[in-house]
Amino acid sequence: MTVDMSVAVAGMKLRSPVLAASGAFGYGTEVPLLDRRALGGMVSKGIFLRPRTGSPPPRIVETPSGMLNAIGLQGPGVDALIRDYAPQWASWDFPVLVNINGESVSEYGDLVGRLDGVPGVAGFEINISCPNVEQGGLYFGNDPRAAAAVTEAVRRRTTLPVWVKLTPMVTDIGVIARAVEGAGADALCAVNTFVGMSIDLNAYKPRLSFRTGGLSGPAIRPLAIHLAHQAARAVRIPVIGIGGVTNAEDALEFLVAGCSAVQVGTATFINPRAIAEIHDGISAHLELRHLNSLAELPRYLPRD
Ligand SMILES: Cc1cc2nc3c(=O)[nH]c(=O)nc-3n(C[C@H](O)[C@H](O)[C@H](O)COP(=O)(O)O)c2cc1C
Repeated sequence: MTVDMSVAVAGMKLRSPVLAASGAFGYGTEVPLLDRRALGGMVSKGIFLRPRTGSPPPRIVETPSGMLNAIGLQGPGVDALIRDYAPQWASWDFPVLVNINGESVSEYGDLVGRLDGVPGVAGFEINISCPNVEQGGLYFGNDPRAAAAVTEAVRRRTTLPVWVKLTPMVTDIGVIARAVEGAGADALCAVNTFVGMSIDLNAYKPRLSFRTGGLSGPAIRPLAIHLAHQAARAVRIPVIGIGGVTNAEDALEFLVAGCSAVQVGTATFINPRAIAEIHDGISAHLELRHLNSLAELPRYLPRD
């Protein structure tokens, strides 16, 4: 029996429900070395309009069942992305979405305007876990109005898929999810990293030079599943689950909790074959339960 593992996320057909999260494979330089048959798609590392060097080291700290990173959104800038990376993506048989980061609403719009129509760019994942420099550094993703304004600005500049990636650092993710849906997002990605901190007891100061970092990996999985589920209950558009997916069971938990697909980040650092193994494990689970396709997987998504 061959299980149909394909999934359509707001009109974008994916051959697999398992995607590489932003930060997993950078801008894809090493992707040709991987087993890609199971890769549903890749989200690029975050891009800003101009090149950025990111935070000074140390930028990564290992934590129980996870890691803290404070890369500081390092990136080559949009011109280098168009010149050096997108041409390679255009030859791949899976979509690449660009992770978009801005310091103002207009910057998000301008970035998408520059990338719209570039061969190799299949869509956009909007990272709203960025500080709004015009509003005293308040995070776009914490404020439903700012999150909606970014989504609208981006929506006006493209007809390609727009996925908005939510921050978990909110009181009610449903409020942000609905605001972003109302502003024209095609799908939501839930969630980005949780803010955390680790202290070096020899130096009596934070281990990360940036002081805080984003916590990822299995440590955040139950929190992420809950938030993805809450987001899925709040909207009609698809939700892509992210946070600590390491094996097929983890991915299945997100899918049953109401997600259309999952993204894998930290697990790929430990096991470069993680995505292929997760894909094959989901397929084996469906086969064992005599389900012909992923679409037949029962979902737990009660509506209020
Ligand atoms: C080293 C690293 C870099 C990341 N860079 C980005 C980024 O540029 N933009 C973004 O939206 N998320 C970024 N993320 C967050 C991941 O895409 C993902 O949301 C998070 O790590 C949770 O998933 P995981 O537990 O599977 O890693 C990064 C994560 C890590 C570990």
